[in-house]
Amino acid sequence: MSQFSALLESLLKLSNTEHSEAHKLIDSLIAEGNLHHGDSWAAHMTPAIDSSALLGQLLAGLHNGNLLSPELYPQLVKIEKQLINWFCQLFQHDYGHFTHGSTYANLEALWQAREHSPTDSIIVYASKDAHYSIAKACHILGLQFKSIITNDRGEMSIEALRKACQQQVPLAIIATAGTSSCGAIDSISSCTALAGQFSSWCHVDAAWGGGLILTSKSQLLDGLKEADSVSFDPHKAFAQPRPCGVLLYRQPLESISDVGYLMQSPKQTLLGSYGGELFLPLWFSLLLSGEEQLLRQLNHRLQQARQFYSTLKERTDWWLLSSPTGIVCFRPPNHPDLSVLVQQGIFSKITINEQAVYRAVFASHKTQAKTLITTLEDYF
Ligand SMILES: Cc1ncc(COP(=O)(O)O)c(C=O)c1O
Repeated sequence: MSQFSALLESLLKLSNTEHSEAHKLIDSLIAEGNLHHGDSWAAHMTPAIDSSALLGQLLAGLHNGNLLSPELYPQLVKIEKQLINWFCQLFQHDYGHFTHGSTYANLEALWQAREHSPTDSIIVYASKDAHYSIAKACHILGLQFKSIITNDRGEMSIEALRKACQQQVPLAIIATAGTSSCGAIDSISSCTALAGQFSSWCHVDAAWGGGLILTSKSQLLDGLKEADSVSFDPHKAFAQPRPCGVLLYRQPLESISDVGYLMQSPKQTLLGSYGGELFLPLWFSLLLSGEEQLLRQLNHRLQQARQFYSTLKERTDWWLLSSPTGIVCFRPPNHPDLSVLVQQGIFSKITINEQAVYRAVFASHKTQAKTLITTLEDYF
């Protein structure tokens, strides 16, 4: 951010621009965005951006190629393929593409589930804590969303899911790997097994938790390779700027229709015009900082989340819920009003089992458990 300010300052000087209203507005925008670079940012899944990725973002703007005409941009196509191969290897899937985020990926996955379904069911089961983009996708596609209860860790109840499947065969089962509210991971292998039993599609929404695949905790995602599709957002878990999502499929989808001038037929993907903005930032991060740096940042975030949880557990008698994906929920017993901390972007307020609780999201590698604890000490 300070590099940006310095660059802007010199450009304004060169162009003889006065300190104008526009300048003030830019300054306040920079201050606003600085929130994500502070050590007390834990409100949402928006990370501090890796500085190499910012260079990639600039390069994407300079290039501006549209991959609906891939023959014009062989270099860009090569990089896109390299990255998709990398994701396919990581998640052990066969085929995939970049997306503008998991809202789109979840919609496309359910669309493909509907197009390839061997049954006439329109039922989609997902945890009651599944992201609202699932219910929205069902609404758009004319499918019926049915939510399944969760246990006290926020994971979908497999028993309730099995019973629901026996009563009404699903078109698709959605497992969430890292719920938006508390970071819980549903049992993916149970979901894929049930989907197999009922000839249903299994999609895993790993938008937030998919990053664990790089870590020593990857067994928490066991079963992923059997899922028909997986969505993951590097713009949440890999310090990337939006938009950067991926949607992976276990098998390539057969071409449903053929439109000569396009690389992918329009029936296979939701993507319209797109180019390097979806993946050049990530490519730059990997090129300049390397996969090890991504892993280091991820492990650091998870370690800070554990430290935050264990300090609260040691020093308070608050209700606490920790998750393996770097979200910690808490509620002091006398319900003090922490809205001032919410307004500052330190924590966010959510509802779990009809109770208002606070949530610390360790999305940024700059967030420090110690600083967050200091902001709460007055309430101990
Ligand atoms: C679990 C989960 N799935 C899907 C999404 C939607 O992602 P996006 O907002 O990038 O489309 C989110 C967003 O927070 C999420 O947490």
